[in-house]
Order: sequence, then structure tokens, then C-alpha cells
Amino acid sequence: MRVVRLAHETDLAGWREAARRLRAEGVAPEDVFWAVEGGGNLFAADITSEVGVGQADAGEGFTVSRDFVAVAERAVLNRSDERFGLLYRLLWRLKDEPRLMRDASDADVWRVQALARDVDRAAHKMKAFVRFRAVRDAAGEAFVAWFEPAHRVAEATAPFFVRRFANMRFSILTPDVCVHWDTQNLGFTPGADAAAAPRADSLEDDWRTYYASIFNPARLKVDAMTKEMPRRYWRNLPEAALIPELVANAQDRTRQMVAAPASKPARRIAGVPRAGAAGPSDDPPQSLEAVAAGVSGCRRCDLWRDATQGVAGEGAGAARIMFVGEQPGDQEDLAGRPFVGPAGQLFDRALAQAGVPRDAVWITNAVKHFRHELQGKRRIHKTPSAGQVAACRWWLDAERALVRPKVIVALGASAALGVIGKATSVGKARGAPISLADGTQAVITWHPSYMLRLRDAAAKAAAFEGFVADLKSAWSLAA
Ligand code: URA
Repeated sequence: MRVVRLAHETDLAGWREAARRLRAEGVAPEDVFWAVEGGGNLFAADITSEVGVGQADAGEGFTVSRDFVAVAERAVLNRSDERFGLLYRLLWRLKDEPRLMRDASDADVWRVQALARDVDRAAHKMKAFVRFRAVRDAAGEAFVAWFEPAHRVAEATAPFFVRRFANMRFSILTPDVCVHWDTQNLGFTPGADAAAAPRADSLEDDWRTYYASIFNPARLKVDAMTKEMPRRYWRNLPEAALIPELVANAQDRTRQMVAAPASKPARRIAGVPRAGAAGPSDDPPQSLEAVAAGVSGCRRCDLWRDATQGVAGEGAGAARIMFVGEQPGDQEDLAGRPFVGPAGQLFDRALAQAGVPRDAVWITNAVKHFRHELQGKRRIHKTPSAGQVAACRWWLDAERALVRPKVIVALGASAALGVIGKATSVGKARGAPISLADGTQAVITWHPSYMLRLRDAAAKAAAFEGFVADLKSAWSLAA
């Protein structure tokens, strides 16, 4: 039995070097034991020699497919003990079976893909569930979060948090590694203990208010909720403390909602902000999180009354390009995320064809609440008024100031009104960049729903092609 001692739990470089050497010497997978420094006992009886890691690469050169490298980079972050052995078995087989990675029915391929998928899921949850607490030190305000990821994804997700909170000094402490960003440099230190993280602060009240306001008892599905927000993350989520009570009271609250008479809109005097509304003298939000919390409690116009929740933008916090839609639709209103319904799917297809990665851009809407009217049980989209677009510009302007994109793409006429502040014909203005006062370039194009509405297949295909071309040229403009 040959033993490889890797330097740390995610030591892919060490694994690669040892694997090449073992492969060159013809050591079969079943004769290799993979261990990690400080990672516990080995079965000493079987060990005949150790394979050095950290010496010059003695490997025989054979290249592996990109599919293998991509899946290995993710699978190695899985906490499963089998990962290094499994990767070596695949590497061993790849020499004689170069197309192996394409065979999803193969047990090893299936397993490594499952490990990689679990890692992706853990990364997704980390991006969604890290909650910062404000602290002060000699240099001023900073933010610290404690998080226990299901797999070792802290380093891999660090660039996401840097993009999202580029102007914020923060540390994310995890048991595996700690991530530190000082607004210029990204650094890592060894894992920490929960006791190192600060205790509750006022930001947690914001999270609880936000969560309580978006919780709709009539739509409660406990299984779906715990799937999306697994219980293992609850202890570090301030809003999770509310869940048992909200769930317990959901039936009563639903009954009260059904029994309550329809509320009459309060009389409004033009130009006077409603009580609780953010007024013109309010300070603009200083972070995208503050925008999201503000949108959820926004009373700048009446749309919040009939919507499930406000839908703020999402994406890369320092994106070069921002896409602005009209307003959330039925599905976005329920999910709390922009462009996830049918228009969002068409938009995703167009982005993919234009070579624009969705996670590298900022996606938002000119209006953050769903304007609709009821027809029977159906909620039918209604175009927001110019007044509603103007009221919501506060949030769009805040997102623009924080993300600071080079190019803003307005999808449709309401978006164009929100972005450039005046009514514009999409047909006439489409595709040609417009220089805005703040130095950004605006590009106006169709709204994805326009293509969904076209009945004629040829017209639909031509419009889609034009739409993709507009996205492509806006993306190059932003480069
Ligand atoms: N249409 C929009 O304009 N925005 C969305 O988020 C969804 C549909």
C-alpha cells in the first residue's frame, strides 16, 4: 500500500502531483491510501512506502479532459473521505477510456458528479445565508460573519462576496478557513471557532423585519421552505428565530387575511410622502443589502399593498453591466427574485447565446413591486404608471450608484423611462448607446415578454436574434 499525505483538505495541487507520479509508476488505485496531514490515523500495517508531495513533478505527461479538471476542482471541496481516491480511480481509467467523463451512467463518473453537485449546492447556500454583524475597530466599521458551510466552499465563494461587498471591510469566519477583505486585498487565515464571531447586532433586526415582511402565511409550504433553507443553517440566521412562530401562526393569520375586508387605499395628496415612506431627504442606502431591506419595506407608492414582496436586484455587486426590466411578474413576486418566470427563461437563453454569464451581471427592475389586477384567481400584469416608475427611481438610482456599471441595458419602455428619465420609443432607440450624465452608457432593447407575445414564428425568431445581438454589443461595450 502506498500512502500519500496531502498538505490540507483541499490540496488539489498536491493530489495532482502525487497522482501523476503514481500513474507513471503504474500504481493501481486500490494500492493507494490518500491521507491529509493532521487528518487522523492511517492503517499503518499495510503501508509500504509514502509518496512524497512537494518535490519536482516526475509524472508521465498525459493530459486529461477539461471535464475532468472542472469536476475535480469542485469535488475536492466535498467533505467526503472518498474524494481523492475516487479522483485517482477516474484518472487511472481515463488513460484507456478518454471519453469516460461523458458517460453519466458510469458509477465513478456519477459519484464524482454527485460530489461536485453537493459542493455547488453548499456554495449556493453560503452565498444566500451568510449574515454579517457590524463591528468597530481602529479603522472604523467592519462586518464579520460566522458560517458553517456543508462543504469546504469558503475560499471558492470568496470572490462572490468581494464582488457583492466590494466597498465593505469584512471577514467570514468558518471552521475550515477565514476569509478577509479590506476593500483592496483578499486574504485567508486558518479556520476559527464560533466563539470568535461577534454576537447579535442591529443588522439582525433588519433581517428579521425583512423576513417577517416577506413571509406570506397563505403560501406556506414547510417542506419547500426547509429544502430551500435547510435547518442546519438556521442557528446562524437571525431570521430563523422567527420561523417556528410564523409557521405555528400561519393558519390563523391566513384565516384572518381571508376574513378581513379589502383595505381601501388611503387618500393621497400628490407630492406628500405617505407615513413611513422614505422621503426625499433620506440618505441613500449604502449597500445592496440595505437596498434589498429598503425595497422590502418601501411605501413610496401603493404597489406594495397587493404584492407579496418587493423584489430588489441581484447579481454581481460590481458588475460592468446592469440589466433593468420593467417590474417583477407573478413568479418573481412569489420567488422574490427578478426574471425567474417565463420572461426570465427567455432572457436566460438570450444571455447564454450572447455569451453573457448571468452571474457576472446585475439584474433588476425599474419598479420593484408587481403591479397587477385580479381576473378571477389570476393576477394579470399591468404596466406600471409613470408615477410609479418615478417613485421607484430612488431604488434604481441607489443600485446604479452602488454597482456602478459601465453599461445599463433597459429592457422595454418602462425600463427606459426608469433609466433615462423620459419616455422613449424602443423601436426607434433600440441598440444605439446613449451617454448618460453619470458617464454610463444606456442601451435600450426589447423586453423579453415582447418576444413571448409575438405570435408569428418568423417574427419571433427575428426579434430574438436582434435581442441577442443587442445583448452581445452591450456586453462588448461594457468590456
Ligand atoms: N419582467 C420584468 O420586467 N422583470 C422581471 O423580473 C420579470 C418579468
